[in-house]
Amino acid sequence: MNAAELLGGASDHLGYFAKAAEAAKAPLAITAAPLPGVLPPVLSGRYKLEGLLGAGGMGMVYRARDLLAEQHGEPEPMVAVKLLRDDVAECPDGAALLYSEYALTRHLPHPGVVRVHGFEVDAASQQAFFSMQLLRGMPLDRLLCEQPLGLAWGELRGIALGLLEVLAFAHGRGVLHGDIKPSNLILGEHGVQLFDFGLGQAMDGVLEGLAKLSRQRISAWTPAYAAPELLDGAPLSPASDLFAAACVIYELAGGKQPFGRDGAQAMHAQHAEQPLERPANLPKNVWPALRQALALDPAARQAGARELQQALAAPRLSLLRRWFGQPQGHLADRESPHVQPQQ
Ligand SMILES: Nc1ncnc2c1ncn2[C@@H]1O[C@H](COP(=O)(O)OP(=O)(O)O)[C@@H](O)[C@H]1O
Ligand SMILES: [Mg+2]
Repeated sequence: MNAAELLGGASDHLGYFAKAAEAAKAPLAITAAPLPGVLPPVLSGRYKLEGLLGAGGMGMVYRARDLLAEQHGEPEPMVAVKLLRDDVAECPDGAALLYSEYALTRHLPHPGVVRVHGFEVDAASQQAFFSMQLLRGMPLDRLLCEQPLGLAWGELRGIALGLLEVLAFAHGRGVLHGDIKPSNLILGEHGVQLFDFGLGQAMDGVLEGLAKLSRQRISAWTPAYAAPELLDGAPLSPASDLFAAACVIYELAGGKQPFGRDGAQAMHAQHAEQPLERPANLPKNVWPALRQALALDPAARQAGARELQQALAAPRLSLLRRWFGQPQGHLADRESPHVQPQQ
């Protein structure tokens, strides 16, 4: 019995098999950017590529229709698939790096982390790829373009707490992201979601067999968010992720990156360091904690993501005063309870 017979005989009832075959013949309607050399319109006979969602330093991400899920009545058959860029795919360990990204992400079941489905290699083209939840919403880099002066604290607070929640979860599970920046975060209906663990790493003792990226080989840093010690060759750490997250929060609060486009290390090298100013929309009582997370010396970033989250969740003094009418001296003790003042 062949596939057509199994599915009921008539070719117009072939469903998934027929659609996959038709789609493979149809020209691919992609919106921008060059296609990788031999990218077929349907990957693994199942994922019909319908448009480019974005391309970054390492990968290309396409919106795709999961024909198999659709055939079985899945109401939301759209997914995203990530492939390596041509130049990265040509590296002998390109597929292993993509697999490492997939495995790190899969290790983090959390609503604030993109959900990955499966890793595959398309037999015909030898393209490695993984499929994942199609995220809908506004990438934070776009949000910043639309609100160049930053977000009001009421809006920003939820995003910042969501980002720190995800980071604390990832660090708790032994995963470092390595590339926290606005374009790797999307604000959707249910809050902020983190993706692109392509520069991520597992901490010692976690997911030991995975390929480890030699960061010297891939200069994929975004200087504005990279902790200065990373650019000096130090390994990734929770403190370097925290620095990047604090840069994102700082930028969202006032529209400006804390150390400018070239980042903290360049500022340091040019002896152009200036004391950081509190961004306009950041309440006074949470500023000491954020400033500490932006310390150039990683040893001074004593608090972890969870502590910074707790400090940012603290009610504003002005609100406490309004609610409880307590004297200032008493409330002052509650300001930023989890951090030491920065020297
Ligand atoms: N699951 C997803 N759903 C929707 N868009 C996505 C998804 N993953 C990535 N993108 C888009 O594709 C772009 C590139 O993906 P990313 O994983 O960041 O690749 P790179 O590792 O090359 O930076 C992102 O900036 C984002 O716009
Ligand atoms: Mg990216």
